[in-house]
Amino acid sequence: MRHLLNPLDFSVEETGRLLDLAVDIEHHLPEYAHVCDGKKIATLFYEPSTRTRLSFEAAMLNLGGSVLGFSSAASSSAAKGESVADTIRMISCYADICAMRHPKEGAPLVASLHSSIPVINAGDGGHQHPTQTLTDLMTIRSLLGRLNHMTVGLCGDLKFGRTVHSLINALVRYGDVKFVLISPPELRIPEYIREDVLLANHVEFEEVDNLDEAMPDLDILYMTRVQRERFFNEEDYIRLKDCYILDKAKMKLAKENMFVLHPLPRVNEISVEVDDDPRAAYFRQVQYGVYVRMALIMTLLEVEKSC
Ligand code: NCD
Repeated sequence: MRHLLNPLDFSVEETGRLLDLAVDIEHHLPEYAHVCDGKKIATLFYEPSTRTRLSFEAAMLNLGGSVLGFSSAASSSAAKGESVADTIRMISCYADICAMRHPKEGAPLVASLHSSIPVINAGDGGHQHPTQTLTDLMTIRSLLGRLNHMTVGLCGDLKFGRTVHSLINALVRYGDVKFVLISPPELRIPEYIREDVLLANHVEFEEVDNLDEAMPDLDILYMTRVQRERFFNEEDYIRLKDCYILDKAKMKLAKENMFVLHPLPRVNEISVEVDDDPRAAYFRQVQYGVYVRMALIMTLLEVEKSC
């Protein structure tokens, strides 16, 4: 039995196969309508979510399965003091697979140690978010036709943004990917990403705070929200929350074939005037998220399309 806790749990080859399956699903959706008949996914969300939880549920429903779960810690037995270990033992009796989001880093890992069903990390604190990364990889591969030879700008809250940590982890495995890390000094990437991921893999990167200067070089611009819920005080959040706002004027500085991604939700960091720009790919990214989660559920449950 396999879990997905970190993007590196799948090799580059396995990730490639999963993305190929997601593309096949995209083009032949009705053929997958019954591959998970009778299977259930439990979505255990101890933190707010719209896209991730609903896309897991849509993915399982598209495959013919059913869904159960909770969408806040307050409505689960966590509010009574139940541990993650006990909850997952019980959920293992109800469902075939589960997706867990939790504010504590490592909670899905703890769950996986006590689970008899596959556990998918749907975001653990400021740590990792591997299914968003699979979504991002599918989006980039579909838009550019490749996952190598590119310059990726990551902009905003690089300290607390788990989507950024997972995406860097995954992309360093593809050749000739250069990163421009754009953030205020207080929100730079954590030391473990800089040392253990970027430097350890001899990846080219620079840390800057000016978005305008970075724009002309980028093939992908990955914007992120300042993660209010992970700040220790509101004053710092208010000071930093609007540090970058992508607008039409900034888009003029970018290549004609650059694409803008964002895991969403956005707050102010992308002006709505950018939404109509053909290079704005963040709503297409949401659609890819469903296909990739369908492919992931099939892969972890080891089900295949019958010919
Ligand atoms: C992201 C998350 O939860 O980390 N959202 C998502 O899953 N699409 C990004 C965010 O909340 O800013």
